[in-house]
Amino acid sequence: MMYKAIKPLLYSLNPETAHHLALNLIKLSAKSRLITNQSNSLDYAKPTTALGMTFRNPVGLAAGFDKNGECVEGLSRLGFGFVEVGTLTPKPQKGNAKPRLFRLSSDKAIINRMGFNNKGIDYFVNQIKKQKYTCKLGVNIGKNKDTPNQDAHLDYLYCFEKSYLIADYIVINISSPNTPNLRSLQKSDELIKLLTSICELKEKLQKKFIKAVPLLVKISPDLNEFELNDLIESVNNLPIQGVIATNTTIERINIQSHLSNEMGGLSGAPLTQKSNAVLKHLKQGLSSQIDLIGVGGIMSPENAIERFNSGANLVQIYSGLIYFGPHLIKEILKKI
Ligand code: FNR
Repeated sequence: MMYKAIKPLLYSLNPETAHHLALNLIKLSAKSRLITNQSNSLDYAKPTTALGMTFRNPVGLAAGFDKNGECVEGLSRLGFGFVEVGTLTPKPQKGNAKPRLFRLSSDKAIINRMGFNNKGIDYFVNQIKKQKYTCKLGVNIGKNKDTPNQDAHLDYLYCFEKSYLIADYIVINISSPNTPNLRSLQKSDELIKLLTSICELKEKLQKKFIKAVPLLVKISPDLNEFELNDLIESVNNLPIQGVIATNTTIERINIQSHLSNEMGGLSGAPLTQKSNAVLKHLKQGLSSQIDLIGVGGIMSPENAIERFNSGANLVQIYSGLIYFGPHLIKEILKKI
């Protein structure tokens, strides 16, 4: 209802300004209690067990919307079962030059080349402590742009330790197309080195705090079959609890908009089938103990149902939220 009223305003602004306005409105609504349990999706509780815990429902918000974890309280009140914040890096960074976010409305798609703009992991930790929320919290972590790949593990270790006590799960993002060479961390030797060091730290923290935080990896939809099989083998051999499929694609699939030549990652409707195919492939190859979060082009309840049928334990939306508003959460929950 409220989203319908403000959508024309948001769409009259450039996408990044609209994004900041939306974040501020969500933050403000949480404070003023404008978002009530009646106006959101909490009536449609669908408790779901995944990653060793119970989510109040299996529909989450994908990373990149609330990069700094400033609006988790408001997003929780909108009815998400879980919110994934980030990508967060050790040091704050500005990201790429603007414009870097493009709405391809006729394609129900978005292209972004934000480049991990975020205020840093320490800022996030401070922010989250001030908020009250009942959804689960995922923390998505990455490396700073100026950290060379051979030292990338140090950035991930730093962010992992900083967020350990706050997070319900932690995601290693190695699939953003907007940080140079990041995606080469998905190659098996680099992946094994990175994940092994994180698993070692996880074991230490687990003993120290008597708290086990699930570790997930978020992957690209652009891996070919061989690369995907290599990744499956690596993940099967490590104590990883989940895989998130997928991030945005650098491919341009059936796009009509004149903005299709903009550099960056494509999300939304054109990604639906590609992400679903990756998820199906993962489901076939991964050990049954590893849970799957399906994301990429979930724009309708039917898309979400297809993703669950392909093996997803949980799903996430981002572009669907931009095009259809928080109403989409409720629509999905009604039909699954
Ligand atoms: C993203 N996404 C993203 N993912 C991630 O792991 N870290 C990030 O910082 C971001 N940032 C980001 C910014 C913007 C503007 C968009 C549109 C997307 C990717 C996102 O989490 C998701 O994987 C993809 O967008 C595919 O899902 P949808 O949008 O098709 O539902």
